[in-house]
Amino acid sequence: MTTPIEISFTETDIDALAGAEGKLAIVVTPEGKLDAAARRVNRLTRGAVQRLASSSRWEKAKPGDVVSLAFPAGLSAETLAVVKLPRRPSVEQARKAGAELAKVKGSATLTVAAGALTRAADLAFGLVLRAYEFTDHKTAESEAQAGAVVMVSKPEDVSAAAAPMMAVAEGVFFTRDLVSEPSNVLTTTEFAARLSALSDLGLEIEVLDEAELETLGMRALLAVGQGSESPSKVVVMQWKGGGEQAPLALVGKGVVFDTGGISLKPAGGMEDMTMDMGGAGVVAGVMRSLARRKAKANVVGIVGLVENMPDGRAQRPGDVVRSMKGDTIEVINTDAEGRLVLCDVMWYAQDRFQPAGMVDLATLTGAIIIGLGHENAGVFSNHDGFCESFLKAAASEGEGAWRMPLGAAYDKMLKSAIADMKNVGGRPAGSITAAQFLQRFVRDETPWIHLDIAGVASVKAETDFAPKGATGWGVMALDRLVRDGYETE
Ligand code: BES
Ligand code: MN
Ligand code: ZN
Repeated sequence: MTTPIEISFTETDIDALAGAEGKLAIVVTPEGKLDAAARRVNRLTRGAVQRLASSSRWEKAKPGDVVSLAFPAGLSAETLAVVKLPRRPSVEQARKAGAELAKVKGSATLTVAAGALTRAADLAFGLVLRAYEFTDHKTAESEAQAGAVVMVSKPEDVSAAAAPMMAVAEGVFFTRDLVSEPSNVLTTTEFAARLSALSDLGLEIEVLDEAELETLGMRALLAVGQGSESPSKVVVMQWKGGGEQAPLALVGKGVVFDTGGISLKPAGGMEDMTMDMGGAGVVAGVMRSLARRKAKANVVGIVGLVENMPDGRAQRPGDVVRSMKGDTIEVINTDAEGRLVLCDVMWYAQDRFQPAGMVDLATLTGAIIIGLGHENAGVFSNHDGFCESFLKAAASEGEGAWRMPLGAAYDKMLKSAIADMKNVGGRPAGSITAAQFLQRFVRDETPWIHLDIAGVASVKAETDFAPKGATGWGVMALDRLVRDGYETE
């Protein structure tokens, strides 16, 4: 796994600043106030910091921005990074500053003189998140990233505040690695093996094979995988940190590659479908975070791992399959496979665990990208209170999420002539009819949220906290949902 860079929190050592190697960062307030470390650096550089702080360049910078000075006279460091932050920044400002520092840092060593800055832990969190790089398949890239030293006035306190954040960062990295991994490496078998290894962290893991899925009656899920050499699997991950309460269930779509099946996708851009296991990747990342920070809650993560391939044994358009629930589905389009996987896993989750709430995540529809772009995931829910608490959690973690409607008129679009329903509703409202399909497999008493993450799981341009590629969207929001809504004490 890509491991987050090491951050150590130490007491401020003013005399070490002149000789600090690599990159050195100091903090200056928007009004241009320097703390003790910044004053020392200002003196060493013969007033360079002060000149910057009274320049129009500084005035134009926003809180959380960083201005870099290269090869500053008077310092050993090759770059002096001046961070613009108030003494008491918001969480967003502190994280943004950390992310900006990650870009300055590169693989060099970094010393941040944060002094009495509040939210230094959030700065470190932003730094770690943005320093992510997926280099497993780059043969030349052997240079390991150096760590960072953050000098603060109360290192123990900041260290304690940062510990749960670093657990979440590890979960985010786990998700990003899974999403980045090509499909010849991350087969269903390899995915299940990586999840099984989470038992080292105290999670209970079960891997259900095709024979067991057949016995359970998951014919809809199995039909999607039947054209692939990779065997279909369902993996159950339980974190039991919360006593006797009913668990929160997280369900993920794990299509390790989506060719479309017999309803084959066009060649252009098909390589992107290596990320079609993004929902399962987020579920895995959240479970890892919860275990690493020993969350006092019961959460069960269940993922359906399949590969959608065209083959002599593949399902055909027009086939009718029976779901675990018992309802029959006419498969009009084999490329609408995610819902066929999720319907069985969601039914299984409710049948076995009677969860207090259920959240499913899936790179489900191209239509959600048309509607919301890459800024927001689509949120669908049968429960206003549950939905509001998720939207709040996502907003507080800076992860875009926008609620979309459900309704009986959309559900009607799934009517089939020969089976209980068909798997597509036509071009209009494609993301909503997909959600309506899923809702048919949600019990009335189960508060449920469906997250369509097709637009946010992996993106072509860098975001605030990730380089281009896998984002890990949702790990922070769901960790926050658990923390604020499900933890005992
Ligand atoms: N995995 C795709 C959705 C997708 C598209 C994810 C783009 C990420 C980026 C999904 O399985 C799919 O193919 N959906 C179809 C549904 C249609 C056939 C009703 C789609 O969106 O075109
Ligand atoms: Mn598809
Ligand atoms: Zn798909």
